[in-house]
Amino acid sequence: MKKIVKNGVIVTASDTYQADLLIENEVIAAIGKHFDERDCEVIDAKGCYVFPGGIDPHTHLDMPFGGTVTKDDFETGTIAAAFGGTTTVIDFCLTNKGEPLKNAIDVWHKKSEGKAAIDYSFHLMIGEINESVLAELPKVIDDEGITSFKVFMAYKNVFQADDATLFRTLVAAKDLGALVMVHAENGDVIDYLTKKALEEGNTDPIFHALTRPPEVEGEATGRAAQMAGLAKSQLYVVHVSCAEAAERIAEARRKGVDIWGETCPQYLVLDQSYLEKPNFEGAKYVWSPPLREKWNQDVLWKALKNGELQTLGSDQCSFDFKGQKDLGLGDFTKIPNGGPIIEDRVSILFSEGVKKGKITLNQFVDITSTRIAKLFGLYPKKGTISVGADADLVLFDPNAERTISAKTHHMAVDYNAFEGMKITGEPISVLCRGQFVIRDKQFVGQPGYGRYLKRAKYGQLAVVDENEKLMI
Ligand code: URP
Ligand code: ZN
Ligand code: ZN
Repeated sequence: MKKIVKNGVIVTASDTYQADLLIENEVIAAIGKHFDERDCEVIDAKGCYVFPGGIDPHTHLDMPFGGTVTKDDFETGTIAAAFGGTTTVIDFCLTNKGEPLKNAIDVWHKKSEGKAAIDYSFHLMIGEINESVLAELPKVIDDEGITSFKVFMAYKNVFQADDATLFRTLVAAKDLGALVMVHAENGDVIDYLTKKALEEGNTDPIFHALTRPPEVEGEATGRAAQMAGLAKSQLYVVHVSCAEAAERIAEARRKGVDIWGETCPQYLVLDQSYLEKPNFEGAKYVWSPPLREKWNQDVLWKALKNGELQTLGSDQCSFDFKGQKDLGLGDFTKIPNGGPIIEDRVSILFSEGVKKGKITLNQFVDITSTRIAKLFGLYPKKGTISVGADADLVLFDPNAERTISAKTHHMAVDYNAFEGMKITGEPISVLCRGQFVIRDKQFVGQPGYGRYLKRAKYGQLAVVDENEKLMI
């Protein structure tokens, strides 16, 4: 049945206006007024903004890491994402050295098939570059539609790749039309500092932050940016946490490097002092890169405002406090890194950013959805409200007030890093390809409804309709 979304205020990355939407066959069929309502389901969006569905470019669902596996899988994680106004996630597919990339991709399809409640796609980790990896990359792009590769510059002896691997990945990506993503921290320096801290008997969670200082992130970000410039390739720096890294990205952009920066809600609203919470509670706040001194928040907000950073990812990587985070009792290096954020990513940016006047409403849409769609080959099928786009919509009450809590969240973990935080603005209903996933704050979707998305190459538009390819 056709649907009409009526009386809402439509907000895109560029415009804010009052209009109604006609939804037919999963897509937005028309934008206008006074649609014929016969044989249509009419949805009243009075008092709500209507945003394009959020796109989370950075999730780790059902991922083995730190001696355990992330608690949220493709079912719980995508349901929580939907509650938070996200209708697409792009998850990181981990690879194993010496094994075909295809094997890893098959594993990730098995993890997600029949489980995701919203649409999803994968980035692919590149841990080594050799002839067989290079031979497989075109197939990864053409057959799987995976057009973004992730290189870790940290996690020595686990995921870390060397500079040669990063540089050769950048060169290959330029030729193939893929976007290289980096976790930018100097893993070798961290390795030295962590061993020294443990030798000196410094085992508490705070030493996670003290052994990964901002210089370590700034150095790796600058190095990756220089390499991207040299390779004339394209680079996306994930989870930027501090001034040092944001400055390296801004500097490189001024020089014309095709580089993009993502930050995450935790770096915008939490700070390093959280790692000092008593009773080992600091472990809940262990991320890599770590939370920083509070003044960095202001730098990150300004960078989002002036376009030096462009996107917001959740870096969803959830572990229970009891039974997972506590693996690191007595040794901070054994605390699984990461936290549960997929559900609150959009709302935190709205409440702390738009409501507090740090970014505009249209910037908010760009940062949580549109820019991400453009960078990762989903636009204009996803990431905007236009005729022909997927009807991925969030009906968002800008004045609703709520308090974030593990008691009410939908993630599968036993704590929330933002516990007690009062926020304004809440998704009321969420549609993915025209179907309600969340209706009046209740989950009405279905695990398995989510569709795997093959993405366009870097800089190219996603096909909106196979029969009617966009003419450009
Ligand atoms: O602490 C983090 N960020 N955990 C997730 C893995 C990663 O580095 O993104
Ligand atoms: Zn990372
Ligand atoms: Zn991550």
